[in-house]
Amino acid sequence: MPQIKPENLSTRLDDPSFTPVARVLAAGKGRFKVRGWIKRKRDQKGKIFFVFRDASGEMQVVVDEARVSKEDYGLAGKLQMESSVFFEGEARADERAPGGAELHVSSVTPVWVGKEFPIQKDLSEDFLLDVRHLWLRSGRMGAALRVRAGVHQAFRDFMAAKGYREIHNPSFVSGAVEGGSTLFEVPYFGKKVFLTQSGQFYNEAYVFGLERIWGIAPSFRAEKSRTRRHLTEFWHAEMEAAWMQLPELIDFCQEMVVSIAQDAREKFPNELKLLGRDPNDLKRVDKPFERFTYRKILEAAKEKFPDLRFGSDLGEAEEREITKDFTKPIVVTHYPASLKPFYHRPNPADEETVLCCDFLAPEGYGEIIGGGERCWTLDEVVGRMKAEKLDPKAYEWYLDLRRYGAVPHSGFGLGLERLTTWLCKLPHIREVIGFPRTMNRFYP
Ligand code: 4AD
Ligand code: MG
Repeated sequence: MPQIKPENLSTRLDDPSFTPVARVLAAGKGRFKVRGWIKRKRDQKGKIFFVFRDASGEMQVVVDEARVSKEDYGLAGKLQMESSVFFEGEARADERAPGGAELHVSSVTPVWVGKEFPIQKDLSEDFLLDVRHLWLRSGRMGAALRVRAGVHQAFRDFMAAKGYREIHNPSFVSGAVEGGSTLFEVPYFGKKVFLTQSGQFYNEAYVFGLERIWGIAPSFRAEKSRTRRHLTEFWHAEMEAAWMQLPELIDFCQEMVVSIAQDAREKFPNELKLLGRDPNDLKRVDKPFERFTYRKILEAAKEKFPDLRFGSDLGEAEEREITKDFTKPIVVTHYPASLKPFYHRPNPADEETVLCCDFLAPEGYGEIIGGGERCWTLDEVVGRMKAEKLDPKAYEWYLDLRRYGAVPHSGFGLGLERLTTWLCKLPHIREVIGFPRTMNRFYP
């Protein structure tokens, strides 16, 4: 490869003359051209060792003064962390090399040498968030983002296999779904609107035509929370189905969680290991999940939190305690009506509770899914709205769904980041999203 001035460089993504690192490692021998980035560099009398990476993996690359031109050796010497480069050389199996092979270089073509990379020694959490746009290149972020993409895909595949149709909802909305205290207000041509907390009400409208639907979109929550599981903007995977009632919904969610967890275990064992999750742990995520009513779980939680009473919310701390010794999710049903938004259907057998289900991930992670059966008759929904001191006038269109051909229906919302954080066994939700939005952070 002759030296190319960067401004004269012409490239293609699908250029067959370059081989991805993973394929070079798998071959273990032969001549290859590779392109990517320098992860680390080590000089050692007459040889420069690089850890070189592309999207498929990383490998050791050796530039030996005795085997390349003087000019190329000089160029290799200038490369630094995160410089982009083409190498050409001979792959050789070597047990000591990570990945089992290394590339012995015959020519070096820097693409962009660049300046000294800002992420060198300071790996403090705050600093890494400031340079998130560069930290995305790290092995750790790469692994988390690959699992995240896999979880997304597995959700879609599951829904498609069940015959559900994808719908799309607006982000600007005129009212609350999950209660008014967590709404972000946005000016809207002299009026004000809100950023959606959930697509649920629209989802309910769709099921009278399509019967079974799903959507994935950002949802926004303005609660002033700094817990390790809270984002102000998260990706919400939601489903809604006509005719479905609570027992069928619980079975559906359970099957879906098992399916996504097994998919991650099979497709991303190396990523999971790198992040600290033994993929074998996920073999235990099988049917059935243990089920508890809120009343039951409250009794168990009272040991640690004696002040809990019927009607007490189970927050991050309580859920962490409740779930810490489980190895797969649990299902908690029939919460007090006072704890849940008005749309939840009252339990005919126990009017103080509603027909809802939360799925709590094990090992302290807590809630990943919130769902349930919806109030479906007009009286039921208006009754619940009045009990919550809401004005039915603000929800006229939603009430229409109960005026014309109403049917029982159910649905849920799943936080994709919450699910991925648990599957990867990560300490904080921001590790599974490229550009996390939290109370203090909206840059980069
Ligand atoms: O339990 P939530 O608030 O339920 C709803 O929004 C329903 N309307 C959904 C529906 O039935 N269609 O939220 C659902 C899930 C939670 O279980 C959690 O996984 C996730 O969304 N979630 C959050 N994830 C990250 N950061 C936040 N601030 C979240 N709030 C909710
Ligand atoms: Mg919830």
